[in-house]
Amino acid sequence: MSLRFSYSHSLPLVFLFFLCSTPSILTQHNEDPTTKTMQDFSGYPVDEPPHHFTSNSLSVDAQTLQKQIDELSAFSDTPAPSVTRILYTDKDVLARRYIKNLLGVAGLSVREDAVGNIFGRWDGYKTELTAVATGSHIDAIPYSGKYDGVVGVLGAIEAIKALKRSGFKPKRSLEIILFTSEEPTRFGISCLGSRLLAGGIALAKALKTTVDGQNISFLDAARSAGYARHEDDLSIVFLKEGSYSAFVELHIEQGPTLEEEGVSIGIVTAIAAPASIKVDFEGNGGHAGAVLMPNRNDAGLAAAELALAVEKHVLESGSVDTVGTVGILELHPGAINSIPSKSHLEIDTRDIDEKRRNVVIEKIQQSAISIASKRKVNLSEFKIINQDPPALSDKSIIEAMEAASKELNLTQKFMISRAYHDSLFMARISPMGMIFIPCYKGYSHKPEEYASTQDIANGVKVLALTLAKLSSR
Ligand code: GLV
Ligand code: MN
Ligand code: MN
Repeated sequence: MSLRFSYSHSLPLVFLFFLCSTPSILTQHNEDPTTKTMQDFSGYPVDEPPHHFTSNSLSVDAQTLQKQIDELSAFSDTPAPSVTRILYTDKDVLARRYIKNLLGVAGLSVREDAVGNIFGRWDGYKTELTAVATGSHIDAIPYSGKYDGVVGVLGAIEAIKALKRSGFKPKRSLEIILFTSEEPTRFGISCLGSRLLAGGIALAKALKTTVDGQNISFLDAARSAGYARHEDDLSIVFLKEGSYSAFVELHIEQGPTLEEEGVSIGIVTAIAAPASIKVDFEGNGGHAGAVLMPNRNDAGLAAAELALAVEKHVLESGSVDTVGTVGILELHPGAINSIPSKSHLEIDTRDIDEKRRNVVIEKIQQSAISIASKRKVNLSEFKIINQDPPALSDKSIIEAMEAASKELNLTQKFMISRAYHDSLFMARISPMGMIFIPCYKGYSHKPEEYASTQDIANGVKVLALTLAKLSSR
């Protein structure tokens, strides 16, 4: 609004400038200047700023960005180089404060929703148009690294700052989003913030009764971090489909391809379909010496057998794109001389082919039932926590990312994201695209995760230029 206002006040000056300095313009196409519009004189629409933005005017402050990545990594519950930042913990709250401060210093207007999704907006000069958004997450699974998600948040702030420095004025507003809890660590729900933004009705309902491993409710945890103060109904955070004209996320690849092939930029065409399952077995337990082998129903062995079955069913698909992981396996009571009476597994399985992924889930369920029967344990829970479809990137955003990389003379490659991201859910309410940068040996979700300052700067430049293109449509 203010941009348009001040510009319109400068119109007479612009007019005068053209009159005085280039009189030939007046007669070039039309003998009678009084029939000319301001647009004819200026060469651009009158409600657009006169600045001619080119990719050459973009400069990324890579050193400051690297410093911020390092500083943010200090908000961690485990020692460096590992990072552990779990939803709504003190470290998470401090890290959020750090980001909100940077958003403010970058001149963005900041708001937060009831679950702590944080938005920083740079108003475009066409305020009636829907905004273009970018962003990622800053929560970190136990003992992970400092780049996963963070590059897409701090990188987005630097991209906006680079655009501002270049003199670019956005037509559509540009918005940075920090998504709450992309990682499922605390409440077992991945992409919690973006799922809700995208209208997760079942999730909003479930969160009223969801508790963490310490039996702390989601709402209490959110309140302790300053969120959900008055709301029990979290559907308040839903965004309408079409709230954004585009969403673009910058992220480390989390795989080895870009580095191995020496390519600077990955242009994501689709995100694989993730699913997660919780399983509980119960047996009689008992004394590790006194209960003879034929008399046991060992919940731990049922879990071990199911873990091997997961691997078998995944390999049966015959495709390297099918993956399965048992990342959590807990035994109760957890004593060397006690037969496990309870076991708990959490299984993650994914594929770029949703049907094939669903066949694996079906087989895992059949195995859980037959293992329980064979081992005379009770299958007390088999719960599919999420079974998400894959998401496709939007064609016109792919084209914008491709054009941006080419303009910046960066090598690029189309690729699939095997990891999930908040983009998977943003794709439900907005055209979506993702930019990948190389990371060392493809390491991620471990302390050795690393991306070079140069690769990060390249990604930020491509993001900035892509945002500029999408904002100008
Ligand atoms: C995201 O962190 C994932 O597990 O893909
Ligand atoms: Mn992650
Ligand atoms: Mn991530």
